[in-house]
Amino acid sequence: MVLRAPARDKVRPKRHPRDMTKLMTANETVERVPVDLTDRAYEILVGPGLIDGAGPALADLISDRMVVVIVDQALVALGHLERLRASLSPVARSLHHILVDSGEGAKSFGSFERVMGELLSLGIDRRTLIVAFGGGIAGDLAGFVAASALRGLDFVQIPTTLLSQVDSSVGGKTGINTPQGKNLVGAFHQPKRVLIDIGVLDSLPRRELLAGYAEVVKYGAIGDLEFFEWLEGHGRALLDGDPAARREAIVRSCAAKAAVVIADERESSGQRALLNFGHTFGHALEAMAGYDGSLVHGEGVAVGMSVAARYSAKLGLCPGQDAERLVAHLRAVGLPTELDDVNPERSWDADALLGHMTKDKKVQDGRIVFVLLEALGRAVVKKDADPDLARRMLDRSVTAGAA
Ligand SMILES: NC(=O)c1ccc[n+]([C@@H]2O[C@H](COP(=O)([O-])OP(=O)(O)OC[C@H]3O[C@@H](n4cnc5c(N)ncnc54)[C@H](O)[C@@H]3O)[C@@H](O)[C@H]2O)c1
Ligand SMILES: [Zn+2]
Repeated sequence: MVLRAPARDKVRPKRHPRDMTKLMTANETVERVPVDLTDRAYEILVGPGLIDGAGPALADLISDRMVVVIVDQALVALGHLERLRASLSPVARSLHHILVDSGEGAKSFGSFERVMGELLSLGIDRRTLIVAFGGGIAGDLAGFVAASALRGLDFVQIPTTLLSQVDSSVGGKTGINTPQGKNLVGAFHQPKRVLIDIGVLDSLPRRELLAGYAEVVKYGAIGDLEFFEWLEGHGRALLDGDPAARREAIVRSCAAKAAVVIADERESSGQRALLNFGHTFGHALEAMAGYDGSLVHGEGVAVGMSVAARYSAKLGLCPGQDAERLVAHLRAVGLPTELDDVNPERSWDADALLGHMTKDKKVQDGRIVFVLLEALGRAVVKKDADPDLARRMLDRSVTAGAA
């Protein structure tokens, strides 16, 4: 049956002019991606050696300020904090660090209060620079602490997971979770600079690397077919540690995210909603899994993208071969694409999933906002979902890819 193609907003990200200027830090080549937000403009630096080279890379910003690193405690045993401290201490007036727990629990009122208390006890002033050091969890919490302390302190992001390097460290969204849902309390607060050290990914568990890779694929799927094709050829090398492939994918992903953020910094025009491709469904899966580590965010997104792509094809909006090509690439690198991949033992209750989808904070006026594909490399936002649309999306023929 061919279903009526839904009305949709024709918005898509413009290609961001990538700044190919090279800068040498510690004899390594670093690429810069500008985020041109007028008075809040900043640069993303991508390359190897940026943790050991953080002092020189931030010297102009620090210029004799007090620096407080808010760091995921997991980075201590890995030696990453020690390396960062050694690099920053010669350029900072004074250098401190505050540890945060690993895991989603760190994005809570309780840990916000503790970290804020420790920060204020250090005798900070308005010139104090905060450095967020860790994955998206430490970054979101540290960014929100920076946005709130003394009504806003400058901060720098040094993301250490692939997901945080290509997504959460860029764009200025900061925040914590509440019992009512994820990321419901927070602030837009842009960093002053982002340092992406591709070498730090060497200690990241493969599963976390893959989860971040799902977000990389998302940029190709929503706005850049050529990048998607490049990933088909180089994705495996990237996952296996090839530094050139890592840098290329991270630079292109950051440029794609920067383009969307520049066009719609506060998610008001709809452009930024494109980044939610695969997320409405992915978030619902995560919520149902209970954030207990059985499903990490990127895995939910991979299933969500597969479902959204196949549903787009079922609507006649997108060629079936494009949807299957996306699913095939996700599968080829080892990401889940179907509900059964996530947990074959579990019976996913469509009503409960729908309940979570309508609670997502991206819901507008009670309507679920879907991001669908017109083609691989071209996404559209659809806000006027009819009540049955979401239910049909959960139909087994879509979620399991049957003809
Ligand atoms: N602000 C935004 O725009 C935005 C966007 C996307 C996601 N997020 C948020 O990001 C969070 C998820 O981020 P994440 O996936 O980076 O999770 P995370 O911060 O929990 O990191 C994943 C795991 O990897 C460990 N780790 C981090 N760096 C490591 C390294 N180099 N080597 C070894 N282990 C390392 C962490 O301790 C953790 O156990 C979620 O809370 C999500 O809501 C925010
Ligand atoms: Zn995501």
